[in-house]
Amino acid sequence: MQLIIANWKNNPKTLARAKSLFLSIRQRAHKLKNIEVVVCPPSLYLPELSVGVSSLKLGGQDCSWKDSVPLTGEIAPSMLKSLGAEYVILGHSERRRYLQETDALINRKIKSALKGGLKVIFCVGDETRNQIRRGLDGIGGAGMVRLAIVYEPLSAISTQKGSPVAPSELRQKKALIQNALKQMFSRAVAQKVRILYGGSVNEKNIKSFLGAAGMDGFLVGQASLNSSRFLRLLRACERG
Ligand code: 13P
Repeated sequence: MQLIIANWKNNPKTLARAKSLFLSIRQRAHKLKNIEVVVCPPSLYLPELSVGVSSLKLGGQDCSWKDSVPLTGEIAPSMLKSLGAEYVILGHSERRRYLQETDALINRKIKSALKGGLKVIFCVGDETRNQIRRGLDGIGGAGMVRLAIVYEPLSAISTQKGSPVAPSELRQKKALIQNALKQMFSRAVAQKVRILYGGSVNEKNIKSFLGAAGMDGFLVGQASLNSSRFLRLLRACERG
């Protein structure tokens, strides 16, 4: 089953537009089969989007590295959970680059999120092997069951004027990530952890990734901000 994650980043700029986008995806997504769809809006919008029955899951885009101490401006994993989030994105390349998030900090956030009962979407970029080694340090096999890894270099992100990674290169990246997981954990963990790709994935190029790259899902930015485009992308994934 493909895991498709919509990362809305700091969009849309009003709650009304966020609700309208979410509802229009939700109305048409409920018929999709064999595909797990997670929408990660700005966390402020979560309470308004988590009402009612939905085939769409929700996630946060970041969380604090500790749940139980006072941290100005931070959002604890337990808060995300109480607002209906099942997942959280951690280690996104934009946060690594522009907010100087380090592997050590991301490692603490992953532990905090897992402890708080969230599933983790762990993003890695160019320094894949080191980011995996440091980011997953001290995390047990039980935690790994609730974690997916996304290969998403900053240079592939559409809004960074990037271009997508070639599907043939992605296959190698997946093998590299599985190899790193096998060394750190076990063959079973390496096979079980879902490995996704993110970076300029849209309704037009999704087919090339599905066929050639063998990824377990995708992290989608820009193309998830338009319901028609995102629905077309989801339908292509459903068909496989
Ligand atoms: P784009 O799909 O717009 O390239 O964004 C990718 C991304 O950063 C998702 O996390």
